Amino acid sequence: MAETKKLFIKTYGCQMNVYDSERMAEALGGNGYEEVSSAAEADMILLNTCHIREKAAEKIYSELGRMRDLKTAKPDLKIGIAGCVAQAEGAEIMRRQPMVDLVVGPQSYHRLPEMEARAGGGEKVLDTDFPEEDKFELLKARPKSKRGPTAFLTVQEGCDKFCAFCVVPYTRGAEVSRPVDRILTEARDLVARGVREITMLGQNVNAYHGAGTDGRDWTLARLIWELAEIDGLERLRFTTSHPNDMSDDLIDAHGRCEKLMPYLHLPVQSGSDHILKRMNRSHTRDSYLRLIDRIRTARPDILLSGDFIVGFPEETDADFRDTVRLIEEVGYGQAYSFKYSTRPGTPAAERGQIDDAVASERLAELQALITRQQRAVQDAMIGKEVGVLFEKAGRMPGQMVGKSDHLHAVHVDSDTLQPGDLRRVRIIGSNTNSLSGVVL
Ligand code: 5AD
Ligand code: SF4
Repeated sequence: MAETKKLFIKTYGCQMNVYDSERMAEALGGNGYEEVSSAAEADMILLNTCHIREKAAEKIYSELGRMRDLKTAKPDLKIGIAGCVAQAEGAEIMRRQPMVDLVVGPQSYHRLPEMEARAGGGEKVLDTDFPEEDKFELLKARPKSKRGPTAFLTVQEGCDKFCAFCVVPYTRGAEVSRPVDRILTEARDLVARGVREITMLGQNVNAYHGAGTDGRDWTLARLIWELAEIDGLERLRFTTSHPNDMSDDLIDAHGRCEKLMPYLHLPVQSGSDHILKRMNRSHTRDSYLRLIDRIRTARPDILLSGDFIVGFPEETDADFRDTVRLIEEVGYGQAYSFKYSTRPGTPAAERGQIDDAVASERLAELQALITRQQRAVQDAMIGKEVGVLFEKAGRMPGQMVGKSDHLHAVHVDSDTLQPGDLRRVRIIGSNTNSLSGVVL
């Protein structure tokens, strides 16, 4: 029998990369690889990279610099770059870091086993195509037998929206939805292996329009209702969404589908109509606020999450104030804010950039506001009863941690709870990044 080789994968960026890394590990299992948790013992290191902001790509190059010693100590060590930096930089990576053996873009992961075999023979291999075939269908390998209680499942990939700041349409390609039957098969398989909560992933997941089991295209809402029929699957989530694709049936599902959790990540990016227009967002501040009203009418306790960019080209103080006011008006339970980062090849990269110190000041102000809001939303949970899906032991002895319906981390004292247990919990305390509760 062939000796098992050791694979170390480091994942950067979004949840879809986490999902992709799992699938790549499974696929390479077929080539005799077993995953390990340290780079030092690996025969192959795979960096699954993110290109969304500048620092992300620079991090990869410095990580590669640090790996030079490993490669010197073990000349047979193979180093591969996957993900969005691989897609965007392609052969440039091997030019800049000749010790890289393999570069694979996100749409070519099903070709990884064959690429690994060629790299093993000493070849330098690169694949950043956007092939026609269904990579997920071809990514069948050796699934892990048992799983934790939560899992990601990609249902849609890519984006056709072309926001002026964003590289995603170029790195992940055009919007594609997976067919419903494949998603259902994968979901049932996950549930059979212990999964009780699935987060459906897509760069534009609410634009989902995959081929349904009746031959028609299904919406995300229709898919949610179908997944909700699976026995043993208790919770559904999805991320990440665009305001323009928040259809009536999806809002209705938020109001009526018990398994769909009351949490919605719906990035708006800016509160200024002028900036939204320059971002090519094709919605306004007002249309977004009206949408939020409708969602809250359908599901009053929904926790809203968002993404914000500050320092976008031409952003004035007044534009920034509009964003601050919007955040104050909506009240987010969770929000992520970023300083605008120029991405080569995107329309906004061609425009006059604003002063970095001004952008940093705005970012600090926004983050302080968001932190206060998050804490206020958390504190307001005290005394409430929520569902918690327990995932693992906490840091303190006798403690278990899980996620609430609203995606807050919750810890309780218990000697009997197991990972995968879903319980009603009364919240009794709020800390910096988590809540504490008692099982009812
Ligand atoms: N600069 C800063 N933030 C960005 N994002 C996407 N592209 C950029 C960029 N060029 C942010 C957006 C998006 C999130 C995933 O990353 O807010 O919603
Ligand atoms: Fe990028 Fe999202 Fe805009 Fe698509 S919708 S271009 S993924 S920010």
